[in-house]
Amino acid sequence: MRPNIDRFRKDMEALARIGRVPEGGVARFSLTPADLEGRELVIGIMKGLGLSVRVDAVGNIRGRRQGRDPTSPIVMMGSHIDSVPNGGDYDGPTGVMGPLEVVRTLNDKGIVTRHPIEVVVFTDEEGDRFKKGTLGSAIMAGHMSWDEVRGLKDADGISFEKALEAIDTTGTPGEVVLRKGEVKSFVELHVEQSARLEEKEMPIGIVEAITGSSHKRIRVFGKADHAGATPMDRRTDALVPAARMVQEIERIGRSDPAASLVSTVGYLDVKPGAMNIVPSLVTFTTDVRDTSPDNLAAAMKEIDEMIARVAGERGVEFEIEELEYTAAVALSPAIRSTIADACKKLDIEYMDTASRAVHDTSHMAHVTDAGMIFVPSVGGKSHSPDELTHWEDIRPGLEVLYEVTLALAGSDA
Ligand code: GLV
Ligand code: MN
Ligand code: MN
Repeated sequence: MRPNIDRFRKDMEALARIGRVPEGGVARFSLTPADLEGRELVIGIMKGLGLSVRVDAVGNIRGRRQGRDPTSPIVMMGSHIDSVPNGGDYDGPTGVMGPLEVVRTLNDKGIVTRHPIEVVVFTDEEGDRFKKGTLGSAIMAGHMSWDEVRGLKDADGISFEKALEAIDTTGTPGEVVLRKGEVKSFVELHVEQSARLEEKEMPIGIVEAITGSSHKRIRVFGKADHAGATPMDRRTDALVPAARMVQEIERIGRSDPAASLVSTVGYLDVKPGAMNIVPSLVTFTTDVRDTSPDNLAAAMKEIDEMIARVAGERGVEFEIEELEYTAAVALSPAIRSTIADACKKLDIEYMDTASRAVHDTSHMAHVTDAGMIFVPSVGGKSHSPDELTHWEDIRPGLEVLYEVTLALAGSDA
């Protein structure tokens, strides 16, 4: 008896129906009604599998399957169910429904593991609501404090603390942080979100390292003026320098000799935003990533200096606000070899790879032995309604996760 792809698919499809948007994809921003409905679905599945469910003070859902030795460290697996705007069905849910299918298989076989197993759904991995991602895992790992996050506001001025009132939680924010020795290991099953596995026809990627990432918000201040009556030499247009900055940010990303740096402006807002007014304020975000911390730091510096230079040349004021920095991290050699051993046992080919996306594992890897298992993404597409991984391509991921769970949690069967 092995993990069953049809049961997994049923759970994935049930979640994918929640938060569908007419333009395509899903919108399940953290702690919004769609996310709440998704949480109810997952909690229902967890309870149906006999897990004891605890929702901590920041909304992380922890479903626990007791082990023979209840005091021994937890073998943890998990991911997220919140999405980006018009997000796909696989980024996150695969790493939640996958471990739940593993638990279902253990139940079917009557296996009692030595270590307790917990399946975790982390709060707000994507960060599109409060403009800070991996909230739940960062707090759990002690990388963000409650005081840093409680006042974060969404576009409607609702704070993270207020948004959490929509769900039933237990304990205090302080208790969210893992105690030393509480967790034995953490594994996240995820779609690759790049096309390397597909191109190399590899069923499994074992993640060696996760990229570092910097998110900033830039504001460029101009002066609103009549678009007809203000001569060209008497205006302070905020958009023209901002447009230069956007182009430079792309150029900096493209000019990395190692082709490992990526830089994106994914959000831009122009105020007052009228056809016949010279723009007075432009707000945009930067997303800059590299697996090399030194390259990332150099690029961040180059971008900050470029912004100051362009603003100076155009006589506009500017502000740079750091939203989030996630350090690049190497994943545990021990977990990587456990995953490799599972692949060998199952006769499934694998390759080592790096993750260009940030994950909850980015934080968990600092507090426990952590690993990631990738399955191929069609065309490498993600953060898009076109995101797709064929069910048959997830099957090896489930099977490997099952073997890894047995190896980590210990079983006599
Ligand atoms: C999370 O999906 C990220 O932006 O890498
Ligand atoms: Mn994800
Ligand atoms: Mn994502």
